[in-house]
Amino acid sequence: MCGIVGYIGRQEAYPILIKGLHRLEYRGYDSAGVALVNPDNVLNVYKTRGKVEDLERFCDTKDVSGTVGIAHTRWATHGEPNDINAHPHFSTNGKIAIVHNGTIENYNVLKQALIEHDCEFRSETDTEVVVKLIEYIQSTNDCSLVDAVRGALKQVVGAYAIAVVDCEDPDMIIAARKSSPLVVGIGDHETFIGSDASPIIDYTNQVVYLGDDEIAIIRRDAPLQVINNDNIPAKIDVQTLELSVSQLEKGGYPHFMLKEIFEQPNTIYDCIRGRIVNNDTEIKLSGVIDHPDRFINASRVVIVACGTSWHAGLIGGRLIENYTRIPARVEYASEFRYANPVITSSDVVIAISQSGETADTLAAIKLAKERGAFVYGVCNVVGSSIARETDSGTYIHVGPEIGVASTKAFTGQVTVLTMLALAIGQLRGTVNKSQLLEAIANIKKLPELIRETLKLNDRIEKLSRTFTYAHNFLYLGRGYNYPSALEGALKLKEISYIHAEGYPAAEMKHGPIALIDKELPTVVIAPNDDLHEKVISNIQQVKARGGSVIAIVTKGDTEIPKIADYVLEIPPVAESVSPVVVSVPLQLLAYHIAIMKGCDVDMPRNLAKSVTVE
Ligand code: AGP
Ligand code: GLU
Repeated sequence: MCGIVGYIGRQEAYPILIKGLHRLEYRGYDSAGVALVNPDNVLNVYKTRGKVEDLERFCDTKDVSGTVGIAHTRWATHGEPNDINAHPHFSTNGKIAIVHNGTIENYNVLKQALIEHDCEFRSETDTEVVVKLIEYIQSTNDCSLVDAVRGALKQVVGAYAIAVVDCEDPDMIIAARKSSPLVVGIGDHETFIGSDASPIIDYTNQVVYLGDDEIAIIRRDAPLQVINNDNIPAKIDVQTLELSVSQLEKGGYPHFMLKEIFEQPNTIYDCIRGRIVNNDTEIKLSGVIDHPDRFINASRVVIVACGTSWHAGLIGGRLIENYTRIPARVEYASEFRYANPVITSSDVVIAISQSGETADTLAAIKLAKERGAFVYGVCNVVGSSIARETDSGTYIHVGPEIGVASTKAFTGQVTVLTMLALAIGQLRGTVNKSQLLEAIANIKKLPELIRETLKLNDRIEKLSRTFTYAHNFLYLGRGYNYPSALEGALKLKEISYIHAEGYPAAEMKHGPIALIDKELPTVVIAPNDDLHEKVISNIQQVKARGGSVIAIVTKGDTEIPKIADYVLEIPPVAESVSPVVVSVPLQLLAYHIAIMKGCDVDMPRNLAKSVTVE
């Protein structure tokens, strides 16, 4: 969950590390810190609770010189977010520093053993155990830092991406990973490391994605060396990044979240591009074409994901059943992995993840693979762990999503899942030609429909002032838009801290209706579809109990505006793709309410963009 950066080369490391930390702040912002080896070979470690800007202020008067350093932005798992628990952690002799992303599951056992050898601990973190263990191995075995790191990692159980510097060996950084991501950027007489490529892209587009259990030995002015825990050299696969700096900046918007909401006409276009072929008569997903038998013979589809990606999965599950007639189940990855699920070799497991690093989803994939299933990934981050772990897959291609609240990734996931369902339907012959052509036409209209819907922004901004008082919200939707209701509620709660619940509209009368009073706004997703009349009755039920209703309706609806308090009109859209369009006003509503409440929408409290821990 944390972000780590490292630099070794000929430039001053500090500005590069700070800029990198800003890029990685989406991963966590409980505390930030930096370790630099200065020209006199002294290790300086500065760290503070709070965000990267707090660290910058803290370092204002400090010696930040040095051409080698590592840095960290934290999302705390072990020990509260304070100055002492902030990374980097350092050895007792003050010479070795470490930054870490992940969790060390056996840290307590290791810590007790080290305490028995008179080792003292400053922090409550699992990370400090690793640096103390490295120091202990180095001093008792009189070995090199690389061997000490290897020795320590052999004892560690858990997930880690680490970077280590030692002021006794100032021309080297050691980096290693297992289950947490780590990228090495290769420049001209300089090398970078990052939890993802965003801190690196300003300097080089040549990168190496470190594999599980690999250790990178990064020496000044020497080629990169990668070994495994047994000291066997690993293959180095240098890749060229397809990422631009402008994709990582706000581009004139006040927040990444708003920028990402407004990018959706383009991101959906990019997501579709090249996948609708033959004069708009066919869907072509190479991940499906390469493995036709797995889909033709699939007895079941199981979708695993977390959070927003799970909501996209709920829509995907319905689409798959509808177009392919294969039974589909949708599971929280965190539940699936511990449920001892029945999985067979004729199952197709679809894992959905924006980041491609979510620990629970990764674990679910591993379990499904062990049991012989074919695993298909729907990811955004190219080269991410999930993208590499799956047998096949489709990228959503919506570009970097930096706001913690997922917006353009959700609409990209739903669009890819729609194409995936149709592609499998084509293969199995469960979608006829006219259905297919109609569905393709509907998908192709999405960028324009989103562009039209974004015009609601000003109206939603004004409307949101009315609702800052609310402590609770209810979101109702039916059919494909029941998951939209869940997603609308999640967006609101994660960035505005207002409690919100999503329900299938018809379920309201089985319990939640008891909550309704004039203090509880209800958002009703009510576009013109087969269930429209039924949703109108649900609105009547809310109104009859004094609740206020914000309704999302299709332009031209004459019924709902008569009964709802506020109406947001979206353009006419086919039912099966309507969640993509409906999600736009829901995202904007959450965004503006959160802004009115003074919340930090890009970095909501207690959250981080990718959840690489259980
Ligand atoms: C949504 O706004 C959240 N950021 C969160 O629910 C997220 O979707 C979840 O953590 C899964 O992340 P992933 O898609 O990167 O796997
Ligand atoms: N476990 C470490 C800590 O709590 C790193 C956290 C993480 O990467 O999420 O500081």
